[in-house]
Amino acid sequence: MKYSRITGTGSYLPEKVLNNYDLEKMVDTSHEWIVERTGIEKRHIAEEGQSTSDLAEIAAKNAMEMAGKTADDIDLVIVATTTPDLIFPSTACLLQKKLGITNSATAFDIQAVCTGFVYALGIADKFIKSSTHKCALVVGAETLSNILDWTDRSTCILFADGAGAVVLEESDEPGILSTHLHADGKYDELLRTKGGLSKNKELLDSGGAFVEMRGNEVFRVAVNTLGRIVDETLEANNMKKSDVDWLVPHQANIRIINATAKKLKISTDRVVVTVHEHGNTSAASVPLALDAAVRDGRIKRGETILLEAFGGGFTWGSALLKY
Ligand code: ACO
Repeated sequence: MKYSRITGTGSYLPEKVLNNYDLEKMVDTSHEWIVERTGIEKRHIAEEGQSTSDLAEIAAKNAMEMAGKTADDIDLVIVATTTPDLIFPSTACLLQKKLGITNSATAFDIQAVCTGFVYALGIADKFIKSSTHKCALVVGAETLSNILDWTDRSTCILFADGAGAVVLEESDEPGILSTHLHADGKYDELLRTKGGLSKNKELLDSGGAFVEMRGNEVFRVAVNTLGRIVDETLEANNMKKSDVDWLVPHQANIRIINATAKKLKISTDRVVVTVHEHGNTSAASVPLALDAAVRDGRIKRGETILLEAFGGGFTWGSALLKY
């Protein structure tokens, strides 16, 4: 039996920090409201001219260094992003160039909003298990600050910029045990940008194609869906909740994370939480949290890890793995 296994993790947050007190000066909000309703204390924002692939490059290099891999070893690059540098080439191709991967590796972007990294990991796992590829770089990277309305207090306090990456390699040892990827497009209007390249383009042209969200409704669907996908994932692997050493959830909101943990009866000290440090970084959020817990020694080799995410679309997904 062939597996794909994570051999390195990496992440990067831009240096510029925007804390809740900074936001108090921009919109009618308060540090206390933001912390109580979301758990977010600060977020990182890309500098002018710092693109999604710039953030991805640093995260990817950190993951490759941990895995002991060079550019020549990578034969698959997948970048999950909702905020690509350009319409084309893909951010994955731009990243490939920046990393000096000149071996004609496969490279493409995928778009599943906040679930993007989990989708990308599921796809990379299938490439490796089908023996067409041996060593993948899987990245979630975003500069969401570019699509925020900085006068809308209901969204600009939530989202931010960052990147996370893993190296996923072919292995005889168990690594990724299963991935579960879902979507339901009927919820498109609860979380979206109204303008794009072929619809309401005037909004894009005028800089008004911002993230819009019906937060309360998103919250309810997110908690129920995330609970269900954990059950689906454990059932598929004949495992119990107590078999999971660490839950690494999408870092959207501490209340969603706590409500999901409670529903699952998973103690909060087995849940990796980084949302207070960087807000909701969409596709970057799961690999950012994973990297933090690997590097600070919480997550250890051989442990069972459950990744899960939920986002616009709606999309949702999970991955169960032996680290
Ligand atoms: N500061 C102060 N007051 C605010 C702010 C703010 N930043 N934003 C909204 N309010 C006000 C509202 O106007 C409202 O006022 P009103 O009662 O006078 O009308 C009041 O606070 C309550 O608003 P709600 O929207 O009901 O607040 P809620 O407790 O639901 O919190 C939040 C809002 C944080 C957005 C919450 O709904 C949420 O977390 N939703 C999940 C959405 C999410 O995380 N999305 C991320 C993308 S999807 C994903 O990644 C899972």
